[in-house]
Amino acid sequence: MSRKEFLEKTGSAAAAVMLSPVISEAGNFPQGKIKVGVIGCGSVSTQYLPHLSKSPYVELVSACDIRYERAKEKAAKYNIPHHYPHIDQMLAGAPFDLMVTLTDMQEHGRLNKQALMAGRHVWSEKPMANTYREGKELLDLAKKKGLRIWGAPAVVNSPQFSFMSKMIQEGRLGKVSGAHAHYGHLGPDWSAFFYEKGGGSMPDLGVYNIATLTGLLGPAKAVVAMTSIVTKERNIVGKGTIKVEAEDNAMILMDHGMGTLSHVQCGFNYFDPYGHEGEGQDKPTISIWGTEGNLQLIGYDWAPFGVDFATRDNEKTRRLATDTGTYVWQEGASVIAESLVKKAEPLIRAEHALHVLEIMEAARESGQTGKRIDLVSTFRWPVIAA
Ligand SMILES: NC(=O)c1ccc[n+]([C@@H]2O[C@H](COP(=O)([O-])OP(=O)(O)OC[C@H]3O[C@@H](n4cnc5c(N)ncnc54)[C@H](O)[C@@H]3O)[C@@H](O)[C@H]2O)c1
Repeated sequence: MSRKEFLEKTGSAAAAVMLSPVISEAGNFPQGKIKVGVIGCGSVSTQYLPHLSKSPYVELVSACDIRYERAKEKAAKYNIPHHYPHIDQMLAGAPFDLMVTLTDMQEHGRLNKQALMAGRHVWSEKPMANTYREGKELLDLAKKKGLRIWGAPAVVNSPQFSFMSKMIQEGRLGKVSGAHAHYGHLGPDWSAFFYEKGGGSMPDLGVYNIATLTGLLGPAKAVVAMTSIVTKERNIVGKGTIKVEAEDNAMILMDHGMGTLSHVQCGFNYFDPYGHEGEGQDKPTISIWGTEGNLQLIGYDWAPFGVDFATRDNEKTRRLATDTGTYVWQEGASVIAESLVKKAEPLIRAEHALHVLEIMEAARESGQTGKRIDLVSTFRWPVIAA
């Protein structure tokens, strides 16, 4: 089946995509805790594990990495009783309920499928699969088995996202016409997968902006994009020089319907004094424009700390929504664990992550063919109502 045929077939079921099993069917956790196994003990695990280890809803059971010394080291540091060098051993080892996938992006689909097949819920770093088709199959598999799968990012959880969504839904911006988002830095140097096939600046960086803009403006109907490789070779720690195969520069236009258009730019060739961590970023990275007002998200959308707001009847820009609450970008797996224990549906939706995945795939296709690509996936929207 071609991608087009597959999308047409599954697109007709797009509305049904929203009918995830209710969370009450996802298991009982009488101890009030979820047993968690973490796979991938590299860079991002140093952000996840402190958060997970502090969650009252999480019992860290296992750590796994094909670089076994990393699994052992993280297990010792975070008091995780079991560690493994391979997913097969982790799944056959000490029982756990939720697998948290923090490996190379290209491994996510395969590993997430294995976990679902073994009866585990999944929280996956982005993307939750390599293609929309693979991701859709994972979601279908989860539903069939009465399990849940979710994918990063967690941007819809920030108070700033919530504020912007409410302003838009209340009509304070009038008719929303255009939006822009950007995120970039000079690119990671600790692993080659970011630059290999299936990697790139879209699934690593643009994914946040695409999730935010679709979350605020609604599912996209179509995509037009250009992508390029600016830096042909990269130096990777411990590996030396590698050839860059995935885009490291992307411009993505989205049509959200009803006349609303938006734009995302991302790349691994952006000098930014705020660097990879974004510490201290105080400029807008997301702008939303309407006939009656505009909103500017201050800081990166994964770590925002305010929203500048101006309206026709209050032209002086005000900085609002400056309270960041408990939100941090690395909270996704902990929030999901809490949702499973409390049987409360989280704001993060697998269907939204799948839609973002379809957009990135369509952007690659548009970049190669020069064509506008129609999308079939959708998700429950608005994420946060007025
Ligand atoms: N590093 C960050 O700041 C950051 C932030 C947000 C999201 N992410 C995302 O997190 C994911 C991981 O990124 P990273 O920067 O931590 O990469 P990394 O290279 O530092 O770590 C990945 C780890 O996964 C392990 N691994 C690879 N394949 C495996 C397999 N089949 N089984 C078990 N372990 C395996 C590797 O040995 C490595 O230790 C990516 O999807 C990335 O986009 C990273």
